[in-house]
Amino acid sequence: MRGLARRVLPRAVFDFGDGAAEDERTLRRNEAAFSEIALLPRPLDGAGERDLSVELFGKRLSMPVIIGPTGLSGLFWPDGERAAARAAARAGTAFCLSHGSVCTLEDLAATGTAPRWMQVFVYRDRGFTREFAERSAAAGYDALVLTIDNQMIGNRERDLRNGFTIPPRFRAGDLAAMVRHLPWLMRMAPEMRRITFGNYVRPGQSTDLGTLAAQMGAMLDPGLSWADVDWLRGIWNGPLLLKGILHPSEAAEAVRRGIDGIVVSNHGGRQLDGAAATADALPGVVATVGGRIPVLVDGGIRRGTDVVRALAMGAAACLIARPQLWGLAVAGEAGVGHVLNLYRTEIDRVMGLCGAATIARIGPDLILAPRAAGLDTRTGALPNSVPGGGRG
Ligand SMILES: Cc1cc2nc3c(=O)[nH]c(=O)nc-3n(C[C@H](O)[C@H](O)[C@H](O)COP(=O)(O)O)c2cc1C
Repeated sequence: MRGLARRVLPRAVFDFGDGAAEDERTLRRNEAAFSEIALLPRPLDGAGERDLSVELFGKRLSMPVIIGPTGLSGLFWPDGERAAARAAARAGTAFCLSHGSVCTLEDLAATGTAPRWMQVFVYRDRGFTREFAERSAAAGYDALVLTIDNQMIGNRERDLRNGFTIPPRFRAGDLAAMVRHLPWLMRMAPEMRRITFGNYVRPGQSTDLGTLAAQMGAMLDPGLSWADVDWLRGIWNGPLLLKGILHPSEAAEAVRRGIDGIVVSNHGGRQLDGAAATADALPGVVATVGGRIPVLVDGGIRRGTDVVRALAMGAAACLIARPQLWGLAVAGEAGVGHVLNLYRTEIDRVMGLCGAATIARIGPDLILAPRAAGLDTRTGALPNSVPGGGRG
């Protein structure tokens, strides 16, 4: 799907989705870390029928794969956010809307797709964050996801090199490239004036994306602290997740402060290049949290096998971001549906081959040696797996 997306999208748009910060080491590390985890199947456990469903925050999902927040999905396909949300609902799973969606959070809610989660930031003007929380509550969002790793914008050099602009600019004479992307151009041309950060537009104010992006960047508060988390906890009554945790001590603090869920994430390497791979950080967070709240993970989950690996290390579910953008770019709602179906088919096959009939049967005994093995146990990292253990 990535290869197809690369073919259909203009380079600057493909790179905006595909790229990461600086040398993109963390991006590569995310995928590599998952791929290095060796499964230890137990086929004689008899998994003739597999149940992929999980329960999360009181809602049953048909599989442990959730669509994570991606800003400007509407640049990949007309009305991209709503297309992806529909695909998620059809697949029986949750969709998380980005703060930076093209459509407003109310427009997304109007589709009636659920479960729907809303991703937010903390701004210098806390009133603006409060507004996001109140709008999300009024629009019936099932959970709020506070992203903590984006208070300063990462240095995404592909975007700089490409002079990434909205609408994308093309070099004169680059006709061959234009022709190759004609279907995308034709689909998106009527949309271009509508491409904006929908949630930020105020009546009578500019909808210009560049202006809004600059305002947004200046609004983010790099001084974000636990006091802000407490404050948000106090004004949002539903499930509150922190996205962007890698350090076990922050995970412990999140539990202490009444947070309902953690997303182990490094923003897909788009923020701090050099940050640990999420597959490497996950065991430490899982051990610290000790099952008190669900730990989710994203970053480099590219196959059903990666989902099973993450669950074996103690994750409750995975988020996927870039893969759903590739699906969106290729075929809109049907493309995202296809991507979700690929994950479902692969998870089902891996569970069958591993002898795990239910998600609860996927435990640490299904992996040869958790990557935590080399980590300092003082940080709370998992010890080596114990055959015969497992969460089931
Ligand atoms: C184009 C793009 C836009 C993103 N926008 C957001 C965002 O608005 N908020 C957020 O919390 N994460 C955002 N992310 C990060 C993803 O939610 C996710 O953490 C990350 O991409 C790792 O998952 P992946 O490897 O499946 O892409 C974005 C990622 C991409 C690729």
